[in-house]
Amino acid sequence: MRQKLVIGNWKMHGSLAANEALLNAIKGGASATLAVCAPFPYLAQCQALLAGSAVAWGAQDVSAEARGAFTGEVAASMLAEFGVGYAIVGHSERRTYHQEADGTVAAKALRALEFGITPVICVGETLAEREAGQTEAVVARQLQAVLDALSVEQLGRVVLAYEPVWAIGTGKTATKEQAQAVHAFLRARVAERDDGVAGRMAILYGGSVKPDNAADLFSMPDIDGGLIGGASLKAEDFLAIGNA
Ligand code: 13P
Repeated sequence: MRQKLVIGNWKMHGSLAANEALLNAIKGGASATLAVCAPFPYLAQCQALLAGSAVAWGAQDVSAEARGAFTGEVAASMLAEFGVGYAIVGHSERRTYHQEADGTVAAKALRALEFGITPVICVGETLAEREAGQTEAVVARQLQAVLDALSVEQLGRVVLAYEPVWAIGTGKTATKEQAQAVHAFLRARVAERDDGVAGRMAILYGGSVKPDNAADLFSMPDIDGGLIGGASLKAEDFLAIGNA
């Protein structure tokens, strides 16, 4: 059985006070493995409040560089010092607003792996790309950079997330059939490299997952959990999704 995983992506939300209430409310955990990806300044707070609990914590990005003169960047080695278990890489907001290329995303994933951090590698098409029938071509291109950069052993330590850009923060969710089709496509691509790794890889769906649609999405054979934005900021909703 593949691991069931629900990861919250807080994006640029939170405050020490709000986080404390949220983390204390979720730290009992849920039936899926839970993790929260917080802004960098709050990782120490996550570590202090979540260490020893059922909930893991992660970052929303990581530098592709190991160290050096890279103002504003945060190294994987630094994240590791704060007990970070996951790092989201290649989120569409990074690809769009920070021009992250497929190769950069793969390099970030490699850097996370080097420090024992699980990269949560995001792929997904825009609405225009979907309407042009390009969904598979786009996610295949995004995934290929990762397949080219990682060994089979490294590939066995990543989590993939399919996040259609048109479903992020819009209240528009992919139907479970639409999501399943892309998840199966991604898994088949990974299987071309290694069948065993593909079978074990958690592939999460992200994009307007809420308590009322999570169970439906997670019932599909290739959807192993979710990457949750807005609903991860409300303890009740995040736990409900974790229990779906
Ligand atoms: P929403 O759940 O707010 O649509 O965000 C999804 C997302 O981008 C998670 O990474």
